[in-house]
Amino acid sequence: MTTTTNEILRELWSRDDSPMYLFNENTLYENIVNMGKAFHRYYGNTYAAYSFKTNYLADICQIVNEAGLLAEVVSPYERMYAMELGFTPDRIVYNGVIPNAAEKLKLASCGGFVNVDNYDELRDIYFMAKEQGITIPVGIRVTFDAGNDLKSRFGIDIDGDDFSGAMAFFQHNTHLEFRGFQCHIGSARQPKYWKNKIDRMIELAKTYGAKYIDLGGGMFGPMAPELAEQFNGYAYGGYEEYAQIIAGAMKKAFPDEDVMLMIEPGTALVGNTMKMAATITNIKFVRGQIYLTANCASNHMGVIADMKKLVPEVVHMNDNTCTFTDVIIGGDTCLEYDYLVKGISGEFAIGDRLVFDNVGAYSISSSRQFIVPRPKVVSEVTGEVLREAEEFTDMFGRYLEKTSEHRMKNA
Ligand SMILES: Cc1ncc(COP(=O)(O)O)c(C=O)c1O
Repeated sequence: MTTTTNEILRELWSRDDSPMYLFNENTLYENIVNMGKAFHRYYGNTYAAYSFKTNYLADICQIVNEAGLLAEVVSPYERMYAMELGFTPDRIVYNGVIPNAAEKLKLASCGGFVNVDNYDELRDIYFMAKEQGITIPVGIRVTFDAGNDLKSRFGIDIDGDDFSGAMAFFQHNTHLEFRGFQCHIGSARQPKYWKNKIDRMIELAKTYGAKYIDLGGGMFGPMAPELAEQFNGYAYGGYEEYAQIIAGAMKKAFPDEDVMLMIEPGTALVGNTMKMAATITNIKFVRGQIYLTANCASNHMGVIADMKKLVPEVVHMNDNTCTFTDVIIGGDTCLEYDYLVKGISGEFAIGDRLVFDNVGAYSISSSRQFIVPRPKVVSEVTGEVLREAEEFTDMFGRYLEKTSEHRMKNA
């Protein structure tokens, strides 16, 4: 088991104090295996499609590919990226609200899983398939009340006219073939909401003869109890808890396993595979409050840093430490609210590394280039740089293209 204080990282930090994501490939392998075992114990016909947007790191996507998972994408560029990384069309699940009927039609005609978000999109794909004289299989993304007080705007409301219209569409034309249902409902990570989702989806699948049920993503992944309890006192029950609810219900409903169960995990697989190691660059007192500044921005750590209190491991790099209580650690942008964590106590010194765990989900992929570029990604296991830090041209190259000097230079 690698720890953040391993020799490789200490050696790296002795010469490089830039912020860096630490990716642990062993943790990802472990998660993939454990999730697979948990679900297959109840329902063999289960497939997982990794949600690319959760973390685009090529090493993650490649490990997932080698492990036999599918790719879940929501845009043409994500689809292209998945194919660049070796996913064949029949191992790609394409969701999303970006209207691109041609893209979805092409993937579906090559064996991919395409889930349609709305009636207009279904109609566009239909006319295109008709024009080309082909019949393609598509799934319908649906939305309903999962019990979590969220009216998800994604998918077709199963109680609305668009839904009955969409299902009637399949009966009245020969160019679209109904394949299955997909749903992904945000802010519904607690297992009790998954119970509501699977019950509703099984009901739909039986009524309309679906060949697959795709429940989307949105599970919790492995995390420390101190973090888990910040989610309304939740006690993380592992993949097993979800598998028992979801795959157990599938087995009961479809004992022959003739309906495929699909899940689209992102956070549950990669959340705990990444850490952020930032360096303390200054310590100051302002009107009675102690502020530490670290050289990364909170948006680089993803939504979890905004929502929850991530207490960093402090790795001392020198002997100058002092004890401080109730400190606020700020990031290196000039936004007043760019805080990495508030209200922690301990020993700190300029130059110490602060290692924040559980930043693998929606961090690097949804971070901003604002004042500072995105940090590099380093393997926590080998110390190898897996993605270089962004540079000046990554941030400003496009802006410079439009300056007259640049145009003259390139004339
Ligand atoms: C359609 C779809 N599938 C899967 C996911 C992955 O969710 P998570 O990272 O929470 O597991 C998302 C996230 O928004 C999504 O929109």
